[in-house]
Amino acid sequence: MLQDGNPAELFEAKGEELWKKPRGPKNASLEKCDLGKGPGVVKGAFVELPRHFKDTNKVQDLESRLITCMQTLQGIDPKEIIKGQWGRGERANTTALATWIAAQSKGMAFNLPQSHAQERTMYEVGKRLFFQRGGPHDFACASCHGEEGKRIRLQDLPLLTKAPGDGVGFAAWPAYRVSNGQMWSMQHRLNDCYRQQRFPEPDFASDVTVALGVYLGVNAKGDKSAVPTIKDDPLSRLRRLPPRGQRLWPGQARSTAFWRGLLRGHRYWLKAQRISERNMSS
Ligand code: HEC
Repeated sequence: MLQDGNPAELFEAKGEELWKKPRGPKNASLEKCDLGKGPGVVKGAFVELPRHFKDTNKVQDLESRLITCMQTLQGIDPKEIIKGQWGRGERANTTALATWIAAQSKGMAFNLPQSHAQERTMYEVGKRLFFQRGGPHDFACASCHGEEGKRIRLQDLPLLTKAPGDGVGFAAWPAYRVSNGQMWSMQHRLNDCYRQQRFPEPDFASDVTVALGVYLGVNAKGDKSAVPTIKDDPLSRLRRLPPRGQRLWPGQARSTAFWRGLLRGHRYWLKAQRISERNMSS
């Protein structure tokens, strides 16, 4: 199946099964989970998250909301997710669930609510976090994502202080990353960007990550979600090679193995891309 399908589809299928299957100490499914549009309503929920929820009196993103539902409906301990590891156990299940739920809003435009006071506060907090400098390089999110046409290590960096376009930035995650063969949720994306910033990792689903989600999500208003996307065409790096004689990055030799690896990755990416487009139009 992996050879023929968009690899993200495996995670979608797993997410749908996890939504419908009775699980956990309470042996219940998640079909009564309220993602903001009423119990069990999945379509359109993703493009309005993070939002304020009455029952928890908190602004929650998709993943922190899933933690609430898994706890209240199924009796699953939130610690299993919050203290868990990427790609393992209940945290991996949360990523699969987020992938399937997000995919049900594919092509819909982001329209986060800002009517509740807490939603507006979280936007302001997210904005401050976005511009907060620190760490050994004195970086903020804005250092890498605050200007048009910026690049790092040969990757394009989208400007995230306004709507970056359909399927870019906030509208692109969860995404399947060809480079490491993993499905990454927005929580994982943000965590990795803090790592790039050499900041301590934020806790999974913590208020910091939700506030950043509100800031990015509100800024993305009108952009259409393309989730789940496929990221990192290895060959796209070639278009941005430094001048001859310069190394791609420290220690990177232009060896035969390097070119072979790039081509293999590119062929795989092309295939995944074709299948994804076919699914979009069907
Ligand atoms: C040191 C540079 C750097 C910093 C600082 C940084 N990022 Fe990133 N960010 C990246 C890179 C590299 C990518 C991957 C781009 C790609 O895959 O083409 C990325 C991707 C993203 C994306 C997905 C963009 C897309 O279109 O797929 C989001 C959203 C994002 N970063 C948010 C943040 C936030 C929020 C912060 C602050 C907590 C932050 N970043 C800090 C380098 C950085």
